[in-house]
Amino acid sequence: MLKRFLSRGLLIAASLLALPAFAAKPNVVILATGGTIAGAGADAAKSATYQAAKVPVDKLIAGIPTLADVAQVRGEQVFQIASESFTNEHLLTLGKRVSALAKQGDVDGIVVTHGTDTLEETAYFLNLVVHTEKPIVVVGSMRPGTAMSADGTLNLFNAVSVAASKDARGKGVLVTMNDELNSGRDVSKMVNVKTEAFKSPWGALGMVIEGRNYWFRLPAKRHTVNSEFDIDKIETLPQVDIAYSYGNVSDAAYRNFADKGAKAIIHAGTGNGSVSNRVVPALRHLRAQGVHIIRSSHVNAGGLVLRNAEQPDDQYDWLVAHDLNPQKARVLAAVALTRTQDSKELQRIFWEY
Ligand code: DGL
Repeated sequence: MLKRFLSRGLLIAASLLALPAFAAKPNVVILATGGTIAGAGADAAKSATYQAAKVPVDKLIAGIPTLADVAQVRGEQVFQIASESFTNEHLLTLGKRVSALAKQGDVDGIVVTHGTDTLEETAYFLNLVVHTEKPIVVVGSMRPGTAMSADGTLNLFNAVSVAASKDARGKGVLVTMNDELNSGRDVSKMVNVKTEAFKSPWGALGMVIEGRNYWFRLPAKRHTVNSEFDIDKIETLPQVDIAYSYGNVSDAAYRNFADKGAKAIIHAGTGNGSVSNRVVPALRHLRAQGVHIIRSSHVNAGGLVLRNAEQPDDQYDWLVAHDLNPQKARVLAAVALTRTQDSKELQRIFWEY
């Protein structure tokens, strides 16, 4: 009698657990770094006047009770800063924490909350150096949580939902803002005052709506488990700077960067990464001194800088950043220089990542 009662009880328990509502939820860790998503202002009508990096991660989580419907969530406050103040050291600390968590069997996905100013740099960095198939989702917001129609709550809910999704595995680092799923490699902040601020020049990977992901394309470049770079083997990142080009430009910035120890300089060029004839002699001199010159373009909607198109890159031993904007090119150059100084190897890396 007792045996039959127990086996029936076990049967009922097992069938209950099989129901989606009772099945064990994926474990997602939110690593908080600051930014507007943790911002607070004094007035609900002020969506641009506020202080970034104020609200702690536990309060962000507590503010979205529905997170519990999609995942078991816990938070860690890694930093509490505005992202324009990120340094290479911040990138390394964050990357090592993400890598350590990704190795844990009780972690199914990771979300990084981040200021939007340099979010695209951090997302690309993690895409290059963290060896995991698990979803890593970087998210921010354009309005503080105190503002009317704040976007952070839904952005964070979407990010946790994606990080908890099996179908987000193996797609590289993702950025979920404004219901879009973007590649951490491609996405960039294109507008500084709209909730639809982030765009990928080659298009989004898909959308996330009501906790469901809709995929329409996949990343084409090497990332995460397919990367030759490993955060666990990187202790420092070399200094790489960006010099913005324009009419009447001089070579002062380039020379000063080199004097201050830059190992490479990203030329944020006009058009196809063009170089003023007033600057070419200095860049050739710096190259001869061992500083790598990498031509990128500051054309807003993205470019495709081609070798030897308007500059004799082979003759000058310069590199091109392919389709990477200057700030992304800086990240890749710094990571690549931890492994090689060879021009041909560096250019290969820019083609492949
Ligand atoms: N200070 C900016 C930052 O932390 C705020 C912008 C934002 O997070 O949206 O990136």
